[in-house]
Amino acid sequence: MEIYFAPIQGFTDYVYRNAHAKYFSGIDKYFTPFLRIEKSEIRRKDVSDLLSSSKFDNPTIELVPQIIGNSREDIEILLKFLKNKGFTSCDLNFGCPFPQQAKKFRGSGIWEKPEMILEVFDTLRFFPEIKFSLKMRIGYSDVSQTLEMVEVINSFPFRFVTIHPRLGKQMYKGDVDILTFTKLSSEISHPIVYNGDIVTTDDIKKIENNFPNLKAVMIGRGLLGNPFLAENYKSQNHDIDIIRLTNFHSEVLNGYLQEYNNSEFMVLDKMKTFWTYAPQSVDKKVLKNIQKSRSLSEYQAFANIAMSKKD
Ligand SMILES: Cc1cc2nc3c(=O)[nH]c(=O)nc-3n(C[C@H](O)[C@H](O)[C@H](O)COP(=O)(O)O)c2cc1C
Repeated sequence: MEIYFAPIQGFTDYVYRNAHAKYFSGIDKYFTPFLRIEKSEIRRKDVSDLLSSSKFDNPTIELVPQIIGNSREDIEILLKFLKNKGFTSCDLNFGCPFPQQAKKFRGSGIWEKPEMILEVFDTLRFFPEIKFSLKMRIGYSDVSQTLEMVEVINSFPFRFVTIHPRLGKQMYKGDVDILTFTKLSSEISHPIVYNGDIVTTDDIKKIENNFPNLKAVMIGRGLLGNPFLAENYKSQNHDIDIIRLTNFHSEVLNGYLQEYNNSEFMVLDKMKTFWTYAPQSVDKKVLKNIQKSRSLSEYQAFANIAMSKKD
């Protein structure tokens, strides 16, 4: 089974993706956070993030750009851009629960407007050179919103469909709805990718045992907390190489120093956010000290303590 690194806006940007692929193995596909339209053009930051991605050393690893939108106009702008830049794959976001998107019927919000879904799928057909995948939640306000659209999903030749089994309105609250995942994954005729709440190799194995036909699992927060997770699962070796971890951490930190023109304040702020996904095993006092650090050197000292005790 393959492992995909989920797109996480504000975290899995090019600095992080490039560094992760350099220091760790085990990921078959990386996804960019969604590219969006703002004032009739693609947000500049999204474009520069996509174009700053380096080619992976291993040519079998794929970078899949993700887009969000609900109208012919927006989707066309995004896909023309991807096509012109030579991208041949694209992931469609029907899952984002954040109100900025969902309240405007984008991301998970699109499940409230079946006519918009038809318009988007219709637009994809004008880009036969691009292979599309779909990333979806199980509805916005009710699971009937996706269950009733299975035929429409099956009518488009997606290469795989990733399902995060929560409703958009739930955000991240409550348990994942495995019953609805089971139903959707048996009714959708495309290869299925499971996504949601995987944090250990045992979680991966449990999903694999329960759903032996899965194409992949996609992991987001669990990989941010433990960048070795996919590698450990694939190699069946649970060691954490602390030197590799600290070198990876330095590469990310230096990448942000470059990206933010050496602004210590911005880099400090950015680096602290990653620790919100630290695994349970990291000492809470050390985490507090990381968040309270006022300089990069102070931050680095506490981060080193946290990383040296990782298990
Ligand atoms: C802060 C944040 C930003 C996210 N940004 C995106 C995004 O740009 N595109 C997307 O498809 N999903 C996005 N997601 C959802 C994740 O890709 C993933 O579906 C979700 O976190 C559940 O998987 P996990 O439990 O393995 O993290 C985001 C999630 C979080 C917490």
